[in-house]
Order: sequence, then C-alpha cells, then structure tokens
Amino acid sequence: MLRSTLLCAALGLLRAQPFPCPPACKCVFRDAAQCSGGDVARLAELGLPANLTHILLFRMGHGALQNHSFSGMTVLQRLMLSDSHIVAIAPGTFHDLIKLKTLRLSRNKITHLPAALLDKMVLLEQLFLDRNELKDIDQNMFQKLVNLQELFLNQNQLAFLPARLFTNLGNLKLLDLSGNNLTHLPQGLLGTQAKLEKLVLHSNQLVSLDAGLLSRLRALKELQLDRNHIRSIAPGAFDPLRSLSHLTLSRNHLEFLPSALFLYSHNLTFLTLFENPLEELPEVLFGKLAGLRELWLNRTRLRTLPATALRALSGLREFGLTLSPRLSALPEDAFRGLASLQVLALHSNGLAALPGALLRGLDGLRRVSLRHNRLRALPHALFRHLRSLERVELEHNQLEALAGDAFADLPRLAEVLLGHNPWRCDCGLRPFLAWLRRHPGLVGRAEPPISVFPRYCSTTPPVEVEAGVLLFMFGLHIGPFCIFSFPLRVFL
Ligand SMILES: *[C@@H]1O[C@H](CO)[C@@H](O)[C@H](O)[C@H]1NC(C)=O
Ligand SMILES: *[C@@H]1O[C@H](CO)[C@@H](O)[C@H](O)[C@H]1NC(C)=O
Ligand SMILES: *[C@@H]1O[C@H](CO)[C@@H](O)[C@H](O)[C@H]1NC(C)=O
Ligand SMILES: *[C@@H]1O[C@H](CO)[C@@H](O)[C@H](O)[C@H]1NC(C)=O
Ligand SMILES: *[C@@H]1O[C@H](CO)[C@@H](O)[C@H](O)[C@H]1NC(C)=O
Repeated sequence: MLRSTLLCAALGLLRAQPFPCPPACKCVFRDAAQCSGGDVARLAELGLPANLTHILLFRMGHGALQNHSFSGMTVLQRLMLSDSHIVAIAPGTFHDLIKLKTLRLSRNKITHLPAALLDKMVLLEQLFLDRNELKDIDQNMFQKLVNLQELFLNQNQLAFLPARLFTNLGNLKLLDLSGNNLTHLPQGLLGTQAKLEKLVLHSNQLVSLDAGLLSRLRALKELQLDRNHIRSIAPGAFDPLRSLSHLTLSRNHLEFLPSALFLYSHNLTFLTLFENPLEELPEVLFGKLAGLRELWLNRTRLRTLPATALRALSGLREFGLTLSPRLSALPEDAFRGLASLQVLALHSNGLAALPGALLRGLDGLRRVSLRHNRLRALPHALFRHLRSLERVELEHNQLEALAGDAFADLPRLAEVLLGHNPWRCDCGLRPFLAWLRRHPGLVGRAEPPISVFPRYCSTTPPVEVEAGVLLFMFGLHIGPFCIFSFPLRVFL
C-alpha cells in the first residue's frame, strides 16, 4: 500500500516540477525524486515519470524488484535503493537503465543476483552491493561494466570469487571486499586492474598472500589486509606495488615475514603489523622508507629485534614494541638511525635489562615508556644527552635503586613515573633520593603507596627524605616492610 509519508512540501515547489510528484515522494530537484515507505514490489505504481535522471528510494518494505519496476527509464543516471528490505531482483529489472552511472543497493537482504542483471549498464561507474547477504556471484556478473570505477561488495557472505569475475573491469579504481568469508583469492583474479588504487580486504578469513596475486596492481596506493588469518606472505609480494602508501597487515596469524618484504615499498607512509604472533623479524625488512611516521608492534611473540631491522626508517616519529612478554633483550643499536623518533614505547614486555647505549643518538626523543617490564636496574647513562626528553615511565618494574644522576642534564624533563618498584632503602638509593629532594613539585597522590625493603635502614628509613618527600602512611612496620608513599611524579 502506498502511503504518503513525505509530501512535496511547498505548493510553489510543486508547481516548479515538470511532473506531478507522487504522494510518497519528494521532488525537490528537477528530474529527481526521493521516495520512501512504499512497497518494493509495487514501485511501478508510484507513477514516477520515465524521464527522471535521479531516483532515491529508501526504507521500502519487504519484497522483490520486478521487471517493470524501472521500465522505460532510459535516461536514469543514479538509482539509490538503500536501507530497504529487497530480497530479490527479477532478471530484467535494470534492462532499460542504459545510462545509469551509479547503482546503490546497499543494506538490503539480497542473497542472489540473477545472471545478466547488469548487462545493459555499460556506462556504470559506481556499484554498491555492500551489506547484503550475497553468498556467491556469477562469474559473468560484471562482464559488461567496462567503465566501472568503484565496486563495493563488502559485508556480504562471499566465501569464494570466480577467477574471471573482474576480468573486464580494467577501469576499476576502488574494490571493497571487506567483511566477507573469503579464505583464498584465485590466481588471476586481479590480473587486469592496472588502475586499481584502493583494495580493501580486511575482515575476511584469508590464510595466505600468494605470489602473483598483486603483481599487476601498479597503481595501488592502499591495501587493507588486516583482520584475516594470514599465516604466510609470498616473498616479494609487495615488490610490484611501487605506489603503495598505506598497508595494513595487523591482526593476522603471521609468525614470520619474508626477508626484504618491504624493501621496495619506498612510498609507504602507513603500515600496521600489530597483533600478529611474530616470533622473529628478518635482518632485512625495510628499504629506505623515509615517509613512515609510526610503527606499532604490539602483542607479538618477539624475543628481540634484529640489530639493523629499523635502520632505514629515518622518518619514524613513534615506535612501539609492547605487550610482548617474551621480549627479554634488545641489541644496543636496535634504534640506531631513528633520528626523528619522538615516542618510544617498550612497555608491557619481559625486559630485564637494557644495553647502555640503547637510546644514544635519539636526540628528538620526548617520551619513553618502560613500565611493566622486569627491569632490575637501568644502565648508568641510559638517558644521557636526551635533551628533548619530557616523560619517562618506569613503574611496575623490579627496580631497587637508581643512580643519583639517572635523570641529570635533561632540561625538558617534566614527569618521571616510578611507582610499583621494590625500592631498596639503603645507602645506594641515597643519591637518587637527594636528587628527588632537589627537584620538588612531586605529586604522588595519584599513585598507590609503594614498599621499600628496609634491609639496611630498618630503624630510620625516612631520615634521608624527611623534607616532605617521603611520608609515613601509618608510621609502622608491617612484617618485613615499611610502607609509605613515595614521590612518584617529578615535575620540574
Ligand atoms: C518529463 O516527462 C514529463 C511528462 O511525464 C514532462 O512533462 C516533462 O517535461 C519531461 N521532462 C523532461 C526534462 O523532458
Ligand atoms: C523478466 O525479464 C527477463 C529477462 O528480460 C525474462 O527472462 C523474464 O521472463 C521476465 N519475468 C517476468 C515475470 O516477466
Ligand atoms: C560467514 O561467516 C559468518 C561469521 O564469520 C558466519 O556466520 C556465516 O555463516 C558465514 N557464511 C558463509 C556462507 O560461510
Ligand atoms: C610516491 O608518493 C609521492 C607523494 O605522495 C608521489 O608523488 C609519487 O608519485 C609516489 N611514487 C610512486 C612510484 O607512486
Ligand atoms: C596496538 O596498537 C594499535 C595502534 O596503536 C592499537 O590500535 C591497538 O589497539 C593496540 N592493541 C593492543 C592490544 O593494545
């Protein structure tokens, strides 16, 4: 039943129209109609004139599109049929739409597309079939769409694509296949997409990236492969993609990466690898890659980093290797060459010690996080000469002492977090406590109290720091510990 939910608002507008606007529609622009709430199967009864160029139908009731739904509409250029409950489309529905440039069928309940449905749309540039329930597609479905530039098949239930499906789509620039059930892509699937700029494959179940699949995609700038089950990538898989600037590989099942995988990806500015069970990185992974600004390797199984792996990333500003409990050691020159680095995140790993020269040369470094490791001590001159350093996070380690000059000569230093370390209250800690006292403005309130093992100063632990720096919580010893709040933040 056709109910007039939306009426042509003003009489003046109505008079401006070259045709009487159907009651369920709004006809604000010449040659265009926007209708909602009707029955999909009875579209023809709306009485839309055949000479419209734009039709937008949404929130239509459950049903199937019929052969005569758009008959005679030979000048229609844009047809939007989103957010309805279309379950099926009769084979001849679009046969008169020879001028169509955009067809949008997003967010319906379409499970199947009849063969030859799109064969008359040789001018089609954009096709939206996303958010339906498509389980398969006929291999000739897109055969005639030689002008197609954008194809959206995302969020369906496609588990398989025929190898010839895209053969005639030589003008395709954007292909979105994300959110399907794809486990493999057949060889030759992307053999003719020389103009493809963006390929979206995230959130599928792909298990590998085979050699040759991407080899013809010379114009590809963006490739999204995150949230799959990829275990293996063929060596050299990205080598032909000289224009690639955006690559996501995070949240896969990668344990290893082939050597030199990004050696020729000189134009990469965005790369994600996090949340892969990486066991090891190859010695050679990146070529000169000055445009990459951030790299996060969190939640891996790395035990260490190869000494030279990051050397070519001269433009890197943020590097994170975190949430990797097996990471127990880093080579001294792991970060050598990262002259632009500002943020180094190494928290939530299994680091027990650090090489003394680990941070040498990182002149722009502003923040270092080392919290939640197993550090027992810090190398004496770890932070020496880091004149840009503003914040250091050292809480939740096994630190018992720090040298009095651990943070000396750091003009920008504004905050040091030290909580949850088993500070040993002996003479060794004295110079550091003296340094703390000389740099007041300490705010420990936000931090919990910490325990100090009072091995050598069990009777008068707070003497060193009585100048308001340390504060007895209860004034008592509890078991072998004395508990008091400690200056945890240092503001200078
Ligand atoms: C479209 O067809 C209607 C009659 O159905 C006519 O009045 C109108 O002038 C036509 N518009 C154009 C642009 O040809
Ligand atoms: C719809 O059109 C197709 C092809 O044009 C034709 O095969 C089919 O029989 C038509 N269906 C109906 C119900 O007319
Ligand atoms: C696709 O995957 C979803 C969830 O991962 C599942 O519910 C659905 O049954 C799958 N469909 C097919 C056709 O395999
Ligand atoms: C690399 O990126 C730059 C800047 O975005 C661009 O001008 C250049 O053409 C790209 N190189 C290739 C091989 O695509
Ligand atoms: C890993 O890092 C990325 C990028 O910063 C972030 O989006 C993601 O949530 C992180 N994952 C975990 C488990 O913290």
